[in-house]
Amino acid sequence: MKVLVIGSGGREHALVWAIRNSRRVDEVVCAPGNGGIASAARCVAVSQKDLGDLLRVVAAEKPDLTVVGPELPLSLGLVDEMRRRSIPVFGPTRAAAMLETSKAFAKRFLQRHNIPTAAYAVCTSQQEAHDSMDLFHAPVVVKADGLAAGKGVFICQSKREALDAVAGLFSGELLGAVERSVVIEEFLEGEEVSFLLLSDGKHVVPLVAAQDHKRIGEGDKGPNTGGMGAYSTDNIVDDKMREWLLNHVAQPTIDGMAAEDAPFVGVLYVGLMMTARGPVVLEFNARFGDPETQAILVRLESDLVEGLEACVEGRLSETEFRWRPGASACVIASSEGYPGTYATGKAITGLIETFPGVQVFHSGTTLVEGEYLTSGGRVLGVTAAAGNLESALGLAYDALAKIHFDGMYYRRDIGHRALRSKHGLL
Ligand code: AMP
Ligand code: GLY
Repeated sequence: MKVLVIGSGGREHALVWAIRNSRRVDEVVCAPGNGGIASAARCVAVSQKDLGDLLRVVAAEKPDLTVVGPELPLSLGLVDEMRRRSIPVFGPTRAAAMLETSKAFAKRFLQRHNIPTAAYAVCTSQQEAHDSMDLFHAPVVVKADGLAAGKGVFICQSKREALDAVAGLFSGELLGAVERSVVIEEFLEGEEVSFLLLSDGKHVVPLVAAQDHKRIGEGDKGPNTGGMGAYSTDNIVDDKMREWLLNHVAQPTIDGMAAEDAPFVGVLYVGLMMTARGPVVLEFNARFGDPETQAILVRLESDLVEGLEACVEGRLSETEFRWRPGASACVIASSEGYPGTYATGKAITGLIETFPGVQVFHSGTTLVEGEYLTSGGRVLGVTAAAGNLESALGLAYDALAKIHFDGMYYRRDIGHRALRSKHGLL
């Protein structure tokens, strides 16, 4: 069969890699892809912001299955349009993707279905935000309602700072676009966990849990990024906790969306804070996480395509997933200056060498006359699976030591929380 992957990051490179490993697949196409993906799939140009262009590629390629990586095409209604044309596609409709595309919708949904989440207020004016602020203690979190590519969350140390953030969102000064509603939220403390699950709209299958490292600096210091590394171990979420999360978070979310006539088919990323009062949902994403996907997929032993097809065809309950025991780690190499401004076009050396047990997934590269050049803030995700976290990290860092580009930066402490706590994360 022929599979089309939409997207251009490290997540998509990992998806292409896992899809190619499927015995059922003989052709993988990626739109638009990147330099690294080009060595594993045929890449075709597309504008990911343009629904018409995306549909043109689908019509030209006639894939047996399409897998949508990023949120933007979901929010444009790509899945709705493809379903209308009876073209098999893995991903949620625009209505189901609202779990990610509107934080106000997600918060109200969580409350309606009694799924644990932080106390909140949705405000549509500064006056309303001003009045609601009395209900919160500092620090307090302010969030843009709509998609903001990871830039829409402000952790404010005082109510004054929070009201300034609200004003900046309403005026458009903070994100460029004018927000029509903002969410004010209780600040939560604890360990963050990325709990991803597949769903066919009814049934739920969890993937192995992962933890991201959002801050640029070691020790989780400095500004937020798209994610500087991730790891997965069996201890992040043990069997008992997984059962609890399935019964109290995952299944109620899928059942709630079905009951509201927006069945969720695809991968649901549940961002959790493990607090003193138990797990609390911080956010939903309607797609695979990046870089969690890189760390998760290198642990998958069964056939990814069979799982994705089972979601699309509504028969997930018949599908079995097998995972490699142990651990995995993905360390992101980024461009100097990221998440601020950075230069691109730097030559990357060391990539022709193969590193046993290691997959180098490209996030932001181009291939020009046989040479890989940097083209993004996050450039590479060096990923390994092994019997334990120390070994997985060792493999990834040994490979990184042999890779170079001008201004290359990576955190040397990926997995530090798990390494510190001998009995797992929590
Ligand atoms: P989000 O885009 O909602 O995942 O938020 C981005 C990051 O902000 C999360 O990964 C957390 O690190 C942090 N964050 C979001 N909401 C809260 C909260 N209520 N309390 C503490 N930290 C939060
Ligand atoms: N790693 C966080 C995300 O994909 O949103």
